[in-house]
Amino acid sequence: MKYPIPRPKTLEFTGEAIPATFAFASVDPLFAPAIRVFQTYAERLFGAVESAGAILLKQEEGLGDGYRLSIGETVEMVVSTAVGANYALATLLQLAEKTADGVVFPQVAITDAPDSNWRGVMIDLARCYHEVEYLYAVADLCWLYKVNRLQLHLTDDQAVRFPLVSLPKAVSEEHYTREQLTALVDYCRDRGVVLVPEIDAPGHFRAFNAAYPELFGTTTEDKGAETTAQTGIVSGIMRAQEQTFAIMQEVFREVAEVFVDSPWIHIGGDEAQIDQWNGCEASMQYCAANGLSDIHELYGHCVARFSRMILDLGRTPVVWEGFDEKTNAMIPKETVVFSWESYYQIAPSLLKGGFRIINSSWQPLYIVNPVRMWDPETILDWEKNRWEHWWEKSQACEKPIVTDRDPAILGGQICVWGDLMQPTNAYAPRHDMLRDEFGHLARRLPALAEKTWTSYGSPDKEAFMRDTDRLTAVAEKLFHT
Ligand code: ACM
Repeated sequence: MKYPIPRPKTLEFTGEAIPATFAFASVDPLFAPAIRVFQTYAERLFGAVESAGAILLKQEEGLGDGYRLSIGETVEMVVSTAVGANYALATLLQLAEKTADGVVFPQVAITDAPDSNWRGVMIDLARCYHEVEYLYAVADLCWLYKVNRLQLHLTDDQAVRFPLVSLPKAVSEEHYTREQLTALVDYCRDRGVVLVPEIDAPGHFRAFNAAYPELFGTTTEDKGAETTAQTGIVSGIMRAQEQTFAIMQEVFREVAEVFVDSPWIHIGGDEAQIDQWNGCEASMQYCAANGLSDIHELYGHCVARFSRMILDLGRTPVVWEGFDEKTNAMIPKETVVFSWESYYQIAPSLLKGGFRIINSSWQPLYIVNPVRMWDPETILDWEKNRWEHWWEKSQACEKPIVTDRDPAILGGQICVWGDLMQPTNAYAPRHDMLRDEFGHLARRLPALAEKTWTSYGSPDKEAFMRDTDRLTAVAEKLFHT
């Protein structure tokens, strides 16, 4: 039997296959975009199909983003939200099959709903520019597997890909235009995928520092100690001063304006080489003026200040694990923290600090093409309350960190990093590396989707990998071109 990914909560096969239909009986305007998306994909997969009947899509309160789908004499789906409609339709498309007798649906009864709010993927757009078509293809993949968050790592030491009006000199030659990003926002919205834009600060800030040294640069040399250990990449830090925070507020405002309906904005906050603040006169003066006793407090203060900027924009801040435990009390508790390295602060401490967190455990959820990633089977063994790392300095290195099944763990995310794909480091042409990167993601995203859609426990691995292979072939035909 062919099963959808992620596995529905209940699924019963109830009879022989019946002729498929991709027509709809009547369409509530709320569901029109989801239906358009579904019909576009269905046509790409199967061409024009003679409709034997029409799908009934009904709305009922109380299902959240879940759905019921029954295929028998009629095809009926019941949903509460447009997102739920996308999920029901992705399941239906996964069940459709081309046979000698034409395109068919199996007869089934399904009830389904996600366990985790956050089922995400991040793409590093800063280290390696990705054409916008690549992002459309990732959005297609997200739709297929009901992955609902797509984080765009838009800035880093190497580049700024967001078209900042307020800091035009910082914007890299290869960047996205506002029109491209707005079109991507619309594309993702129609598919029930929420974009999470990231501006990474106060660390990973070299591109800003180089463009505006008088505004952002520190007077101390950036030594790149910590990141160098792992990746050979040197990282810069933002100067702390009132004028700099004022401009960062404008940066986040611009981001919110383009990502008009993103409930979350990611403020970065990782791997800041805070010792660069020592000896930076402006930053030290800022500490004194704000009663901050050391650079760790300044780090916490930066995160807190950026978080409040996002809250003032009516959005929720998201940040990487990075700030010190002793500064937890400074940071607004609305801030959602990615627990990834288990080095700066571990998940139990973040939970105790009152934060909601997302699990993006380096091992097995990082893809650092071409050298480090884990099999999809290993991702199937991961749980959203479990963290592991191969790096000896991580507290999750010797043995995994496992927390209670805390509802404050919102879900999980695969992070696709481009550290080793930057032009200076690349040992293959960019398009080859991007093709490989996409292939690695396409193979692993089904497992992440599974483990976040249904928390705790694993499906039969062999059957799951068979369905992964089958759906990877389907996905190739779906992609936006
Ligand atoms: C990260 O991997 N630097 C969040």
